[in-house]
Amino acid sequence: MGVLERELAYHEKLYSGFAQMHFAKPAVRALRAHMVGRILARTGAGKQSRVLSLGCGIGDTELLLAPHVAEIVGLDLSPAAIRQAREDAARLAIANARFEQGTTADGRYALVIAIFFLHHLPDDELAALPGRLAGLLAPGGSFYSLDPSSRRLSGRVGRILIPWIMRRYQTPDERELEPEATVALFRNAGWNARAETYDFWSSPFAGLFPGWRTGYRAARRLDDSILKMAPLRRVGSNFEVIANRSR
Ligand SMILES: C[S@@+](CC[C@H](N)C(=O)[O-])C[C@H]1O[C@@H](n2cnc3c(N)ncnc32)[C@H](O)[C@@H]1O
Repeated sequence: MGVLERELAYHEKLYSGFAQMHFAKPAVRALRAHMVGRILARTGAGKQSRVLSLGCGIGDTELLLAPHVAEIVGLDLSPAAIRQAREDAARLAIANARFEQGTTADGRYALVIAIFFLHHLPDDELAALPGRLAGLLAPGGSFYSLDPSSRRLSGRVGRILIPWIMRRYQTPDERELEPEATVALFRNAGWNARAETYDFWSSPFAGLFPGWRTGYRAARRLDDSILKMAPLRRVGSNFEVIANRSR
């Protein structure tokens, strides 16, 4: 079995019920809403923007983003994920969201997003991605990604205290990424890119206590203070890459 087959097998199972149930819980919904606000704030995307989402899963972030942009196209390897995303778009009568099963995209977009996706790509595909993306972006377009950091303190603590929960949320091939090394892939391909720490502990909190929205919101507020401290920012949980083409 290759990486794609293993990814597919894992995600077909994840999206056969567990993900739908887990992602519908209040703290996870609040996390998704926070992510959407952050994507809009960091990229400047708005009502005129066509957006492509790589590895969109069941599209729960994309369906929250849809009312803020012109159009969103979600792409994912998993047929089960795409079925669910299409069903949810129809149920919610969201007409400007389209979901496609596959691994390659076409078209031109003002913004390409990749939420918890890059760390699932093998090293060679990750290295080639900035070059591939250049052909998908309209002039002045940007890229936004969110992935677990290899420096995250929550990962080290989690592997000691709750290794079975960590494993449940991870595919055999995924790994945490080093923020600066990931940004360097974009810079070396001619992008203007930077990394920012998204959170310290609020996203893992939502994973551990998915039913507790108030707890998540308190954790997120605390994160906003914690992340002002450089040593803690360095060991944050997830990092963003925000990039646009410089040449
Ligand atoms: C960790 S999940 C993230 C899903 C979603 N963005 C989210 O935030 O819930 C990674 C997703 O990438 C998809 N995937 C993995 N490799 C892929 C590839 N090469 N092309 C397209 N999708 C892929 C998987 O099916 C899975 O849905």
